[in-house]
Amino acid sequence: MSLSLLRGAGAALILSLSTMLNPVLAGAVTDPHSHANSAEVRTTHIVLDLDVDFAKSQLRGTAEIQFQKLKADADRIVLDTRALDVRSAEASSDGTTWTAASFTLGSDDAVLGQALTVRLPAGATRVRIGYATRPAASGLQWLKPAQTAGKKQPFLFSQSQAIHARSWIPLQDSPAVRATYEARIKTPKGLRAVMSAEMSDAPDAAGRWTFRMPQPIPSYLIAIAVGDLAFQSTGPRTGVYAEPATLKAAAWEFAETETTVALCEKLFGPYRWGRYDLLVLPPSFPYGGMENPRLTFVTPTVITGDRQLVSLIAHELAHSWSGNLVTNATWEDFWLNEGFTEYLTFRLTEAQFGKARGDMERVLGVAELKSAMDLAASDEDRKLKRAFPSKDPDEVFSSIPYQRGALFLVYLESKFGRDAFDAFLRGWFDSHAFQSATSEQFLAYLDTQLIKPKPGVVTQAQINAWVSQPPLPSDAVYASSDALTTVDAARDAWLAGTTPIAAMGASQWTVQQWEHFFEGFPKTASAARLKELDAAFKLSGNGNAIIASHWYALAVSSGQVAMVLPAMTEYLGRVGRMKLISPIYRELAATDAGRAQAKAIFTKQGGGYHPIAQQAVERIINGG
Ligand code: BES
Ligand code: ZN
Repeated sequence: MSLSLLRGAGAALILSLSTMLNPVLAGAVTDPHSHANSAEVRTTHIVLDLDVDFAKSQLRGTAEIQFQKLKADADRIVLDTRALDVRSAEASSDGTTWTAASFTLGSDDAVLGQALTVRLPAGATRVRIGYATRPAASGLQWLKPAQTAGKKQPFLFSQSQAIHARSWIPLQDSPAVRATYEARIKTPKGLRAVMSAEMSDAPDAAGRWTFRMPQPIPSYLIAIAVGDLAFQSTGPRTGVYAEPATLKAAAWEFAETETTVALCEKLFGPYRWGRYDLLVLPPSFPYGGMENPRLTFVTPTVITGDRQLVSLIAHELAHSWSGNLVTNATWEDFWLNEGFTEYLTFRLTEAQFGKARGDMERVLGVAELKSAMDLAASDEDRKLKRAFPSKDPDEVFSSIPYQRGALFLVYLESKFGRDAFDAFLRGWFDSHAFQSATSEQFLAYLDTQLIKPKPGVVTQAQINAWVSQPPLPSDAVYASSDALTTVDAARDAWLAGTTPIAAMGASQWTVQQWEHFFEGFPKTASAARLKELDAAFKLSGNGNAIIASHWYALAVSSGQVAMVLPAMTEYLGRVGRMKLISPIYRELAATDAGRAQAKAIFTKQGGGYHPIAQQAVERIINGG
């Protein structure tokens, strides 16, 4: 039953019962990372009309924000912006007649950017902002042709998560606010625009591509890319967009995606987004993948020619449930997105490729967690539910919400049994579909659905230890992997001098085994040992960026920078995926001499990094 509540005179306000009962929808949750007054005025639909100007590295045009008033007497809407040139603001009650509206831009906060406050005339249901982005917009990267695979055309892509959408669209930039969107994007001839939405196959006569996202999504999932893009289908619902030079290899690598979608549906409920396509970005893409709805953005470093890294696709696809369907209400609840997604990924990998491969990924996840726990700047960062009101989400980003979150769910599964836990998870997604949720909401749901109905299985104190206390609970459930234990034995025997290098069997190893090999490698090995390793497996200049990254970090931490410097410098100028470059810069920055080298390399090679990656590297080499 939906109870309607009418308030206000002219503009009637309709709130359903579920809206009033949900603290996020009712505006009771404050997002420390947004200026928006979304408790009073809430965005419902966004219309973008933008020109892509490569000569000026600028997006230019208008953003229309349609809204609903939660407070009938609200007389302004506050939007988030960062480094936008705002030219005009208009308001309208019907979308046809527009009148100029007065607006102010607030002071510039280093983390949040500037609030854009627009006065609302009585009866206004939408505002329209005329604006242009700046070349250094934190959420956009403008690539020169030389930075692409084809080398002929420029490329543009966005990265809105966590709080970068505001650097290319003035909007209420909080994951607690969900809106549908549509867009018209004008590109230069010969270049194709794609977005996280339903897309047109061809531009109109004026060169505009049109898009429509009919499901309400949080702002961090609005995404765009423009370049020389071609498409290849991999199944009825799946396909790959990439530069022509990359397309064939990408389509082969990701050919199993359709199967993964079907598996997901079997485990977690219907896929609610229509198509699931992938977009392969140039190597400066700062992440492994980004779960933009209908169109996951992915780094080319997972195209290794052996399909060994496709669990990254499973991860981004799993976000279609954990994240895109049920979203963290604020960035303090980030583990609800990433911890759930990692857990779902383990389940998918196991179902698609067998338990051994699933367990291997679980063990690697735990290793990542342990090193992230050691690296964490504070105990606050070690908890699942965190409070970091004054900090940039990018700055506190780590594997902890991912791997500790996943381990928490593994723990719950082990306590309640897989069948009961699967039903519970599916219930969580179905009952919170297209909503944003807090950790507290999840814990309340857990309490009513599992803990209370099955008394004596898990106590509140145990839950609390997982979510709100820094140390890892001692009753965590860990997987083990024979394939990785074998690697330990091989590495240790070779290092001890008991067996020759060829006896390690490393030529048969998967990339996961290589990762494990490096993770357990002492930093005290001699130059001769490292040279032997490099010679045997051609690690310097290795085409697999994951292996190359581990190798360079190891050489640096062992005091052997000179051994790898030319290859490492070339690598650091080509790859911009943070996870694959930060560890190298971190190892370099561990000594004074290395820090100077890191600065020199960054000055020479960092110009091609995404603004987010540039910031991350600067934090590392400046001692952050
Ligand atoms: N949503 C994240 C990427 C992200 C997180 C971007 C926070 C900005 C802020 C994405 O789903 C992700 O987790 N990517 C991982 C891959 C994964 C297999 C763990 C990555 O990029 O490494
Ligand atoms: Zn993720």
